[in-house]
Amino acid sequence: MAAEPVNLNEFQELARLALPKMYYDFYAGGAEDEHTLKENVEAFHRITFRSRILVDVSRIDLSTTILDYKISAPIIIAPTALHKLANPEGEVATARAAASCNTIMVLSFTSSSSIEEVAASSNAVRFYQLYVFKKRDITATLVQRAERNGFKALVLTADTPRLGRREADIKNKMITPPLKNLEGLLSTKVSSDTGSNFEADANETMDASLSWKDLEWLRSITNLPILIKGILTREDGKIKAPSDDMTIKAVEVGVAGIIVSNHGARQLDYSPATISALEEVVHAVKGRVPILMDGGVRRGTDVFKALALGAQAVLIGRPVVYGLAAKGEYGVRRVIEMLKDEFELTMALTGCPSVKHITRKHVRTEQERI
Ligand code: FNR
Repeated sequence: MAAEPVNLNEFQELARLALPKMYYDFYAGGAEDEHTLKENVEAFHRITFRSRILVDVSRIDLSTTILDYKISAPIIIAPTALHKLANPEGEVATARAAASCNTIMVLSFTSSSSIEEVAASSNAVRFYQLYVFKKRDITATLVQRAERNGFKALVLTADTPRLGRREADIKNKMITPPLKNLEGLLSTKVSSDTGSNFEADANETMDASLSWKDLEWLRSITNLPILIKGILTREDGKIKAPSDDMTIKAVEVGVAGIIVSNHGARQLDYSPATISALEEVVHAVKGRVPILMDGGVRRGTDVFKALALGAQAVLIGRPVVYGLAAKGEYGVRRVIEMLKDEFELTMALTGCPSVKHITRKHVRTEQERI
């Protein structure tokens, strides 16, 4: 058994050792120069704390509520593709870990375990992430399956009209294994000119014409709450309504929440770090719908910083896959537990006995440095 990691970054190294290079690169890589990939992590480093002292922190309550679901901490599992490349149990192991940590798992549209397998494997609260295909029937079928299998919300990923250019996958000639949920629905290609069939297939199937009006279509086929993932600007947070009243674009189309995300820096390089984009969206949305964020969260201090800047919770992507690759279900559990422990310590040392106590005044961003 490999050494017990003491933080999330050590899980990344264990995953690198455990996985074939092609798969490790698939999980770890970002778009083009990977500038945003580094920034997602480094932008957190430029935020410091304004701790309060002499606050009673003998009891710390990390719990929070997201869309009426009480979870043990504001840390959720982001949708990431193809968990069976990391571990033969795939998303089933991840869902079990989510259940034992009492948190929410967002299952990826491109999962390697089926919706039904994941639903049967644990009683975790599950959301289902959606891509909209040119063949709308495929997306509609999957929405119905998610609904039938007790998924509690849909997460529409809206930053992927086409797949970003992930050069490691191109170099490695990354071949995607069959996607369980899409069996019989898609004609999967085996290779492409770029050597990355994942990219070729996605660009062939993804509906690049998707726009805000299509949210109405989505709402017409489901009663589940819909969150939009991939918002990075105030403009996508709000539009000028005819009345001149600033209303929320997302609220107008009836979304239940927003996820500020740059897709783990796998789409457009030189997108801002999500922690840097968060406040702009928070100010536009003005509390009318909950805002979550993901990208580069590796420490409990990062979770705290995201909450201080207005997020209700964070999602973690790569660390979960690294935990899974290194130590299976136990590894995912450890990743979440370690992040929770670090977050709890941060709350104690900043003088915040509960998540409600975390405020904008507990952090100082680079612009505010004195
Ligand atoms: C992703 N992400 C992603 N997002 C999504 O909506 N659907 C998906 O299928 C995937 N697949 C996927 C695969 C891999 C390997 C990665 C790393 C990421 C993006 C994911 O949900 C999330 O936005 C980021 O992973 C968050 O950044 P960190 O935590 O990985 O830094």
